[in-house]
Amino acid sequence: MSTTEARFADKGVVVTGAAQGIGRAVAKAFAAEGAGVVMLDNEADVLGQTAEAIRGSGGAVEAVVGDVSRREDVRKAVELAIAKSGHLDVAVQVAGIADFIPFLEVTDASWDRILDVNLRGTWYLVQEAGRAMVRQGIHGAIAITASTNAFQPEAGGLCYNTSKSGQVAVMHTAALELIRHGIRVNALSPGIINTRLSAFVINNPEARKVMLDRIPIGRFAEPEEMARPILWMCSDDASYLSGELLVVDGAMTAGIPEPGTLDVPMPGVVR
Ligand SMILES: NC(=O)c1ccc[n+]([C@@H]2O[C@H](COP(=O)([O-])OP(=O)(O)OC[C@H]3O[C@@H](n4cnc5c(N)ncnc54)[C@H](O)[C@@H]3O)[C@@H](O)[C@H]2O)c1
Repeated sequence: MSTTEARFADKGVVVTGAAQGIGRAVAKAFAAEGAGVVMLDNEADVLGQTAEAIRGSGGAVEAVVGDVSRREDVRKAVELAIAKSGHLDVAVQVAGIADFIPFLEVTDASWDRILDVNLRGTWYLVQEAGRAMVRQGIHGAIAITASTNAFQPEAGGLCYNTSKSGQVAVMHTAALELIRHGIRVNALSPGIINTRLSAFVINNPEARKVMLDRIPIGRFAEPEEMARPILWMCSDDASYLSGELLVVDGAMTAGIPEPGTLDVPMPGVVR
């Protein structure tokens, strides 16, 4: 694959949730920089199409249909990366799901489903990747896709918010313990990204406006704008970065935004 930069030439990479959205952008970006990428996702058709498209532009990718909340599926992806590339250098957790239900109505089923995929799935990937890296003496990098919900919870999102702050605890704990093996562990907190997961906000005119009013940069992000910082975290450019939660949200959680848009004069405000 032709690229101006190839920070990941011959590296073995696993990306979960790679069929679409942020995960697809991450897998594509690693492949464009020379990595051998194993893409794990539970949506077989979309995963197959995405893998085909990346191969079509010269990327070396393998698709594993599996569920991140099943340890054997995660292990299979890690083992395939080692079989294909000889070693696992990078693991990126992106797979995630959400539902928004009033607190008093949250069910056991919802709690189990969201926590299993988002949190158990994260633990499994970090642990399986960490074990493989330690076994092979690889000074690798692991990245977790959390959310601004990890530290700024949204009403209605009990299970999602809990899973996202739990991911940060997994990241911090793993960073503390794996650094002695030369493995760095970090997390990204995306704001609102133009993907299927947030389509219920982006495609709803009222919700869209409410959310955009909270985002000082004035727009939602594209998945590629999350892939670039994730690749950076996993590259040698970030060789001293570990245990860090990088917030990439267009200043959404930087503080309380000015009311209204910046170019509408507010009474009593000197501009
Ligand atoms: N979109 C946003 O605004 C936003 C904001 C903050 C954080 N995030 C996080 O980013 C990550 C990716 O979200 P996205 O917006 O790209 O969503 P998306 O729905 O577009 O993609 C998620 C991918 O994960 C896969 N997946 C879901 N459950 C799985 C499972 N059990 N096993 C394997 N794969 C599974 C899906 O098939 C899909 O391909 C999630 O962890 C999400 O919480 C997204």
